[in-house]
Amino acid sequence: MTATAIKTRPVNLILLGPPGAGKGTQARMLQDRFGLVQLSTGDLLRGAVAAGTQAGLAAKAVMARGELVSDAIVLAVLKDRLDQPDVGTGTILDGFPRTAVQAQALDDLLARRDQRIDAVISLAVDDAAMVARVSGRYTCGGCGEGYHDQFKQPKIAGRCDKCGSDKMTRRADDNAETVSTRLVAYHAQTAPLIDYYRARSVLTEVPAMGDIGEIAGALDAIVSKLATS
Ligand code: AP5
Repeated sequence: MTATAIKTRPVNLILLGPPGAGKGTQARMLQDRFGLVQLSTGDLLRGAVAAGTQAGLAAKAVMARGELVSDAIVLAVLKDRLDQPDVGTGTILDGFPRTAVQAQALDDLLARRDQRIDAVISLAVDDAAMVARVSGRYTCGGCGEGYHDQFKQPKIAGRCDKCGSDKMTRRADDNAETVSTRLVAYHAQTAPLIDYYRARSVLTEVPAMGDIGEIAGALDAIVSKLATS
């Protein structure tokens, strides 16, 4: 896939899927390709934890257990980010919404900005494969690019392809026990949103067990169509 950004009208896209489905991987590729802004509530919360803010202090233990952070905290963190000027070009929501309350609040937030959700892409994967995907994940500490011990290695071992940094990090919640709790939370609280968005005719389900590049091609086709419609 080329890294050339295509100029589009503002598009708001949601990537839905369990831990390890590839939301972050695909969101970063769509960001590069379409100039949309990736908004990952997981990244925003990890940023709050690292900064030691009140929200971060409240979220830290909940995230370590693999449970969902309260709607109030997540919505406050997201609202702050939506108020930043770069977001006007359109967004890819990665890991948000995750509950019915968050979905309703998002509709309200966007309506106040005369915007709406244009598409919701549900990445369809097998739970059994997700533990391996998440356990092998590591991230560039310089630019946030994601890698995997087996499925996505940098060209030079230990050095980021994108920014050249050799600082790679692993998430504290990427262990088999916490991933199981995260999968339970996904099925109980987030998977029902698939029907919520299907009823609004904005849902597309994309098989996501294949190669990263193939899945990116499928998402590219969906977003290209939206951007020119
Ligand atoms: P968050 O950071 O959102 O984590 P998650 O949803 O559990 O998702 P992941 O980041 O684990 O997976 P991903 O789908 O992005 O996969 P990735 O592309 O990295 O949330 C963390 C925590 O924060 C939550 O548990 C909760 O506590 C809290 N939180 C966040 N948002 C919240 C909200 N809205 N409400 C309440 N609480 C919230 O891929 C994984 C690995 O697999 C990578 O190494 C990648 O290289 C590899 N890979 C990707 N695609 C493929 C492929 N097709 N084939 C092989 N390998 C692949």
